[in-house]
Amino acid sequence: MSAPAGDLLVRGIGRLLPMTGPLVPAAALLVRAGRVAWSGPERELAAAVAPGDTPELDAGGAVVLPGFVDCHTHLVWAGSRRDELAARLAGTPYDGGGIRTTVAATRAAGFDELVELTEARALAALRTGTTTMELKTGYGLERAAELRLLDVIAAVADRVPVRIEATYLGAHTVPADRDRSDYVAEVIDTLPAARAAGARWCDVFCDTGAFPLVDARRILAAAGSAGLGLRLHADQINRIGATELAAELGAASADHLDRVDPAGARALAAAGTAGVLLPTATLTMRTGRWDQAAVLRDAGVVLALGTDANPGTSWCESMPYVIQLGCFGLGLSVDEALHAATAGAAYALRRADVGHLGRSAAGDLVVLEVAHEADLIGHLGAPAVRRTVVGGVPVG
Ligand code: NIG
Ligand code: FE
Repeated sequence: MSAPAGDLLVRGIGRLLPMTGPLVPAAALLVRAGRVAWSGPERELAAAVAPGDTPELDAGGAVVLPGFVDCHTHLVWAGSRRDELAARLAGTPYDGGGIRTTVAATRAAGFDELVELTEARALAALRTGTTTMELKTGYGLERAAELRLLDVIAAVADRVPVRIEATYLGAHTVPADRDRSDYVAEVIDTLPAARAAGARWCDVFCDTGAFPLVDARRILAAAGSAGLGLRLHADQINRIGATELAAELGAASADHLDRVDPAGARALAAAGTAGVLLPTATLTMRTGRWDQAAVLRDAGVVLALGTDANPGTSWCESMPYVIQLGCFGLGLSVDEALHAATAGAAYALRRADVGHLGRSAAGDLVVLEVAHEADLIGHLGAPAVRRTVVGGVPVG
């Protein structure tokens, strides 16, 4: 399904948060052919917009903001990691080794089964207000299996009204029984086919227990030459220089950053590389550190939030939950968290058309359940989103 492109007049908006400028109280917003055509105080609507037979949606005085942009997910997987969860609760630290458990289950699953599992997760995300989503491969870890996951992502993109960005993460970990340098060569070899199969991005898990800097540098340099944009799992488990590498290579984002320090943050800021924080993974990894947003903020890094949806460290499709943890865990303000979940995440994906509701932006928006955005943060675990609109078409 390509994203819908409809007409819609949203009235009765209590507080419109366009993310491009100040909030507009008592607002209305018009979408024409899938794009924002006008927004402003509702009392100015009649003068600004000719009456017509545009379908209407009454926001009932609630908050309206851009649809959430989830800029980091590992959504395509089969199987379960419940045994690892029990071990983690008993104090075993996360070391990335469980990825191979999911690789085995994902390789064993049929194509249709993977499409159904992934589609169900994407629809769960949509119900909680996500309208743009990045999906990584990474549980195939051999050429054909990784390309199959890109085909799964393309099939899901055809079936759900969410804007999808595909990322090739062949370098998620070294597969069991493979020599590392051999596998790195295979990943590099697969880059053009990954691009042809729909990947826009290449990511590498550059960390202790995954790929060292030397491999990440080779893979990402080749990815750039193959026409893929760059992102990097950096400073998740240990600080080995991945954050500086992301900055040096001009990656669009450095992600996780649980171990980032001021020098790494300054490098990101200077390069214009977004810092993607994934607080649900921080929570379940039980790293005990929650000051990374402050370190990034102090350096002036553009902050983004994502779910990191995956079976090992973040079984979560909900951006509202991530936003709540962004505030109560990472110490973001309400405005910072909402910006990071919309415009900041759109910047991390280098998309100018989503994550805000300025003129000609995509008509992707959520009507919250609440009349003030602070209540989205404060009411833990409550349903947060009443309606979701993609391209001017109510889809949830
Ligand atoms: O982002 N860091 C690597 N990848 C995932 C976890 C993957 C897994 O454990 O299955 C993450 O946390
Ligand atoms: Fe991740």
